[in-house]
Amino acid sequence: MVDATPDVGAKGKPQKKVTASGKATGAKRKSSKPVHKELLTAAEIEARKMRAVNPAQYYRQNLGQLGFGDPEHALVQTIKELMDNSLDACEAMGVLPEVTVELTATTKRYEVVTNKTRDGSVRTFPVFKLAVEDNGCGVLKGKVAKCFGSVLYGSKFFSFRQSRGQQGLGVHAAIIYAQLTSLEPAVITTKTESDPKGFQVVLKIDTEKNSPVMVSSEEVEFSKPHGTRVELMIAGDYTQKVESFIKELSLANPHADLKFSVVAQPGQEPKVLHFKRANEALPPPPKEIRPHLLSMEPGALLEMRSNDTCCSTAKQFLVRHFVRISDAKAEELLKASGLAVSIPPKEIDVEALLKAAREGDLMRPPLDVLSPIGEDALRQSIRRIYPDAEFICTASREPWSYRGVPFQIEVGAAYGGQSVIEDCERVKEGVFKSRVIRLANKCPLIYDSKDCLLYKVVKEINWRNYKLPQEEGNLPMAPLVIIVSLVSTKVPYSVPGKFAVAYHEEIREQLKLALQNLGRMIQGYISHRQRQEHEQHRQSIFQIYAKEIARDISVLTGQDQELIYGKLMESIKSKQRAKAASRLKPEPQAPPAPAPEAIPQHPEKRMLEIAEIPPQMPKKKQFTLEEYLR
Ligand SMILES: Nc1ncnc2c1ncn2[C@@H]1O[C@H](COP(=O)(O)OP(=O)(O)OP(=O)(O)O)[C@@H](O)[C@H]1O
Ligand SMILES: [Mg+2]
Repeated sequence: MVDATPDVGAKGKPQKKVTASGKATGAKRKSSKPVHKELLTAAEIEARKMRAVNPAQYYRQNLGQLGFGDPEHALVQTIKELMDNSLDACEAMGVLPEVTVELTATTKRYEVVTNKTRDGSVRTFPVFKLAVEDNGCGVLKGKVAKCFGSVLYGSKFFSFRQSRGQQGLGVHAAIIYAQLTSLEPAVITTKTESDPKGFQVVLKIDTEKNSPVMVSSEEVEFSKPHGTRVELMIAGDYTQKVESFIKELSLANPHADLKFSVVAQPGQEPKVLHFKRANEALPPPPKEIRPHLLSMEPGALLEMRSNDTCCSTAKQFLVRHFVRISDAKAEELLKASGLAVSIPPKEIDVEALLKAAREGDLMRPPLDVLSPIGEDALRQSIRRIYPDAEFICTASREPWSYRGVPFQIEVGAAYGGQSVIEDCERVKEGVFKSRVIRLANKCPLIYDSKDCLLYKVVKEINWRNYKLPQEEGNLPMAPLVIIVSLVSTKVPYSVPGKFAVAYHEEIREQLKLALQNLGRMIQGYISHRQRQEHEQHRQSIFQIYAKEIARDISVLTGQDQELIYGKLMESIKSKQRAKAASRLKPEPQAPPAPAPEAIPQHPEKRMLEIAEIPPQMPKKKQFTLEEYLR
């Protein structure tokens, strides 16, 4: 039946009634057939659809936000998430990481309708068996199911400590993607140092409940004293991105031993890559800190003080929960905010308190809590990845902070040489576009470079000032790989997939200064090379003149022309040798060469590292031919 009396809204306008199927029914619409469906307002229909979404359901529908949008991205992303976790687990235990990755294509196929081809035909991708094993701390038996079976469950989200993972999403997204594409569960085998045996769990994630569905669990043998092995069956499109990701990961973690074996097509021979560690030294362990008051949003502080149950006074609340707040500082801050020190935390006026903190001289957070790659280690690492690079340099900034969060910038560059050229984009014959490798907490960022602050700042630099050709606002056109590394207790990613770093003025500023420093070193090398080329050119001109002079002297003196030419050439060569020797003499202001034992396993490379510091040449002097021969 059509409702003849229309509802009247707040402003007196009649509201449209809608059938449950969503079709509007005009109040005075004539209908030949009676309508038996229940009539509801649009708001009522919406209300019937409303229900809470749990994170597992959300990310199952939005796996693209986490890097699992298509089989190519998903394969690299899965390897990245598992390897990140492995390196974090090794760092937590303070051991040199040994991580192995085995990727094997099976005969099972995953089919998708694609819009890549015009007819919308079906594309199929192989289902890979992926196993990542580490020698990290392992996971306690009682925690395995939750750690791997509940989205947003993990050990890092609430921790103010530098780590590759920070959200509690990574491995879960990989498991959800695996069960969506291969229908297979994840197999997790883990052992802590105190467990006599390993513990194996086979599980899926019930995304409706965001909880693990245990297929089986049992005690098993584990080949290492401690560690974790995660096995997944995932659909993937194997491309060079996988190898280049592992290469970059090894660049960022010179202390890690990474083994990768891949069977890209069923039945093929495995291809094995072994990135041995470049040095045996463990980087300084990152330290846990409490949050800094300036890193708090007012709303978060409000919630924190409302939920606090452990402190009886505002002063106690500040001292206990925040870094850099002593008793005296808490009193000063509360006084400046017009609050009494003894009020209960629930009565703190958060806006007044934050204003006082911003305007007062609250110290920056402690900056020695980070674990950077280290300039020497980065240099060794670059040399290992680009063994024939003509020139390598690195620079770093002192730790600094953005909005109360400590961070540090390190940069490096490899210039020239075949391995560098192979990594750069070839624009045309002999012209190459440089490449940027972005690292965040020692982990390569593989996608979305254009939205990433680290990439944008590299493009912002005027590289022409440093003798590198560049179109305005673009990357320099040179056979050059630029490595940009950011470490922080909280990397400000712009998306949950951790592809790109968001804008923060302090990070931009520090990175710019570091890159300018790098630019000056590259410019030094290019000038040095140009001088060498110029010198060679001059020598070749002298050689041509020498022939002429020998002929004239021979005519004047009647002596043998060849003999005179030979003597002239000998004189030129001995001058060349003397010049080369004087150039190799270290300048007083040149940085000292590293001690031989600093790089014990690569003595031949040490020579290269020293040679990489271009000596300062004396001021250019134009010789006349007579002066030169004198
Ligand atoms: N190989 C491993 N060794 C030890 N613990 C692990 C390992 N893999 C995962 N875990 C545990 O499982 C938790 C969940 O991992 P997950 O990758 O989902 O999140 P995360 O690493 O905390 O953060 P992110 O989403 O940024 O990766 C981790 O916090 C860690 O405690
Ligand atoms: Mg993780």
